[in-house]
Amino acid sequence: MNDPDSSAPEVPPLVPSGTPLNLEDFRRAARVALPAPVFDYLEGGAADEHTVAWNEQAYRRKALAPRVLTGHTGVDTRCSLFGAELESPVLLAPTAAHGLFHADGEIATVRGAADAGALLTLSTFSSRTIEEVGAAARRPWWFQLYVQRDRGLTADLVRRAREAGAGVCVVTVDTPVTGWRERDLRNGFALPSHGRPANLAGAPTHAVTGGGIHDPRIDPAVTWDDLEWLRGVAGLPVFAKGIQRADDAGQAAERGLGVWISNHGGRNLDTARPTLDVLPSVVARVDGRVPVVLDGGIRRGTDVVKAIALGATAVAVGRPYVWGLAVGGREGVRDVVRALRRETELAMALTGVASLAGLTPDLLVPHLSA
Ligand SMILES: Cc1cc2nc3c(=O)[nH]c(=O)nc-3n(C[C@H](O)[C@H](O)[C@H](O)COP(=O)(O)O)c2cc1C
Repeated sequence: MNDPDSSAPEVPPLVPSGTPLNLEDFRRAARVALPAPVFDYLEGGAADEHTVAWNEQAYRRKALAPRVLTGHTGVDTRCSLFGAELESPVLLAPTAAHGLFHADGEIATVRGAADAGALLTLSTFSSRTIEEVGAAARRPWWFQLYVQRDRGLTADLVRRAREAGAGVCVVTVDTPVTGWRERDLRNGFALPSHGRPANLAGAPTHAVTGGGIHDPRIDPAVTWDDLEWLRGVAGLPVFAKGIQRADDAGQAAERGLGVWISNHGGRNLDTARPTLDVLPSVVARVDGRVPVVLDGGIRRGTDVVKAIALGATAVAVGRPYVWGLAVGGREGVRDVVRALRRETELAMALTGVASLAGLTPDLLVPHLSA
């Protein structure tokens, strides 16, 4: 008798071996591709890096309770943020100095994001200028602002971003000083010239001071009044990025500022709460008045689903798309975003929901063994 296996046609593998399949695969590839001190700068967090780990672990402390026989035939991931219609609730969080990771820097990033239908938030500390990135952008993009001690320069940065096409200004409020980043200290890491901030031409070189890369021109004493002033000069919707408490979220919502829950990916204050744990109280306090974005530790489509189910309007990823940038430039960024979106759609379908509005808190239960 013939061995049935011996005559079976050879089935090509779904994914060629070695092709990154998920975000962790991209991380491993980036570790190989990048010089060790650059990879450490990207990966590292403050002090013992507890918060870096907790951000990711928080998702494993929640299990999904999928609904069956819902009769849905597809999923719709569209979401709306301050009037902007997005294909997906996955945004790219601002990360500095893309020139460190790829020769095309933020040009590759903004193009890769557009190829995947996603929105980039451009860092103040980009290696390419606001104008260069605005010219390369084929889709909406946002600008992240570090308020400078010089308010004239601050207003000028926001004006440049608006004129170059940015749709929203994201003001980072969790970095009055830079975190104690021991990997960078041990490596004696300082930004090389191809990673320097192009928007602040003539700025003093970033220095490794107190454990991180720090621009002495960032104002450590920003207040809620400054954010109101900024909203006036920006002429754009404004998010406060780095909110970690319900009372601060309430302050933001009262002023019409979007709430972006973040602990800077665990890079600033170690042992700060994981962002997923902050989310429910913030959502309750904001009560739908303004959008709520969350970042930190999102690595799987199920993580996206869990954050939206707990009330986030959208989520953002930082390190993962930089892994893609380091590994494959524009295509790498595109592939990371696509992988996460594909997983998100799959997770929604398997959870039995057809749209983001269908993602509700009852789909999650505590899972304490993680
Ligand atoms: C290499 C790196 C650079 C960053 N640069 C900035 C920045 O310039 N401005 C900012 O607001 N946040 C910055 N962040 C924080 C991210 O916007 C985001 O909060 C964080 O990366 C989210 O966590 P995740 O990396 O686990 O996704 C940076 C993060 C990393 C990893």
